[in-house]
Amino acid sequence: MTNETPFVYRFVPAEGAGAPPLLLLHGTGGDENDLLDLGRMLSPDSALLSPRGRVLENGMPRFFRRLAEGVFDEDDVRRRAVELADFVDATRRRLGIGAPVAVGYSNGANIAAATMLLRPGTFSGAALLRAMVPLSDPPPAQLGGMPVLIASGQMDPIVPSSNSAKLAEMLLDAGADVTYRTLPVGHQLSQADLVLTREWLERVKKRTLQSA
Ligand code: MLT
Repeated sequence: MTNETPFVYRFVPAEGAGAPPLLLLHGTGGDENDLLDLGRMLSPDSALLSPRGRVLENGMPRFFRRLAEGVFDEDDVRRRAVELADFVDATRRRLGIGAPVAVGYSNGANIAAATMLLRPGTFSGAALLRAMVPLSDPPPAQLGGMPVLIASGQMDPIVPSSNSAKLAEMLLDAGADVTYRTLPVGHQLSQADLVLTREWLERVKKRTLQSA
């Protein structure tokens, strides 16, 4: 599919050269404005692309349907991941930007993980903050050393640590370069996430510059 899907989104142009664009993916009930400040703090030079999830759950935007807390409608996950990949591809072409590093929180991290497994090549890297396994039986993906950060919360009541560990294993098996960290926090984002993600992103940028 080549047509750009009608996501509502914000785009903030890059403030400098050499930093990858960030694709910011909010959690349940968030919107396209939610993670812009975080994106700026993570990478001051990057272009920021921030879509709003197109599924509504009791009025709250999400990136795919769920049947209950932590129980996903996997047909919808598959459909919405492809839709997001199409949006990213078409918007990149139109704006003339490179493959973004996805920065997803909670539901946004889950759609990012699903998109990587279903459409590898959409992102150049991904920071998955409080992510879960999005698909019970994903197709085999080749992620070719793509850098991935998974930051889970030790006291997270929504994502059991066994689940985020399974996601880390799944992405490792698919060939991603996975950094998996458990922070002493709950489901909410914390200062520790900011520091960890910023440092990880710096390493990714250095590696990209060295191999350029
Ligand atoms: C999800 O539904 O994607 C996860 O349970 C996280 C959430 O959005 O609460």
